[in-house]
Amino acid sequence: MTSTGFFITLEGGDGAGKTTVIGRVREYLQQQKRPYLVTREPGGIEIAEKIRSIILNPAHTAMDARTEALLYAAARSQHLAEVVEPALQQGMIVLCDRFVDSSLVYQGNARGLGVEAVRSINKFATGGLAPDLTLYLDVDPEVGLSRISANQDREVNRLDLESLAFHRKVREGYLAIAAEEPQRVVVLDANRPLESVEQDVLQVLKDRFLKDIGDNLSN
Ligand code: TYD
Repeated sequence: MTSTGFFITLEGGDGAGKTTVIGRVREYLQQQKRPYLVTREPGGIEIAEKIRSIILNPAHTAMDARTEALLYAAARSQHLAEVVEPALQQGMIVLCDRFVDSSLVYQGNARGLGVEAVRSINKFATGGLAPDLTLYLDVDPEVGLSRISANQDREVNRLDLESLAFHRKVREGYLAIAAEEPQRVVVLDANRPLESVEQDVLQVLKDRFLKDIGDNLSN
């Protein structure tokens, strides 16, 4: 697909602080006065929301790992078709909270389906659309999980309840992707107080990418 927009994804293990950081990035993008969209799968898209509620229901302990991977890919495809692709085609900066990398590491690495198998179903689901930039918040799983248990307001989902070993595999998976694709993936140390992480995220956007984004939008 050709587009004139700029596609950014935000990734991280559970408790990495994505939700806090995304709020700050949204404020920053607002100040830039460029057309932008902040979204997350399933993005309020009815079909994708329904798929997602099946995946994350804590009662669904019998869900097979392949089923889970296919459902994520299905929700992603719908969200792309209804939200992300139209925005990119209009030249917007799109920031998406989690994307294919989440499936590669959660389903491919941590659930053990294999990264290549999960990559291939996602290639079908996305038509090969890849982010221009991925911000990966790298957190030690023990730090991440302790943040989650300290946050009373956050709803605990089925994947939060996985073991520390599972979350370690998630982290290893992310670090492997970052090592393979250093141009696309920027690793940010998210073990620090979240204000410092936010500052770093904004610095990355300022230094490296707003120029690219600006060029991209003016073309
Ligand atoms: P999410 O609602 O984005 O929670 P968080 O606040 O941690 O970002 O994601 C819920 C869970 O779904 C999270 O544990 C990661 C997992 N997940 C996958 O396993 N595969 C995927 O493709 C996606 C998008 C999320």
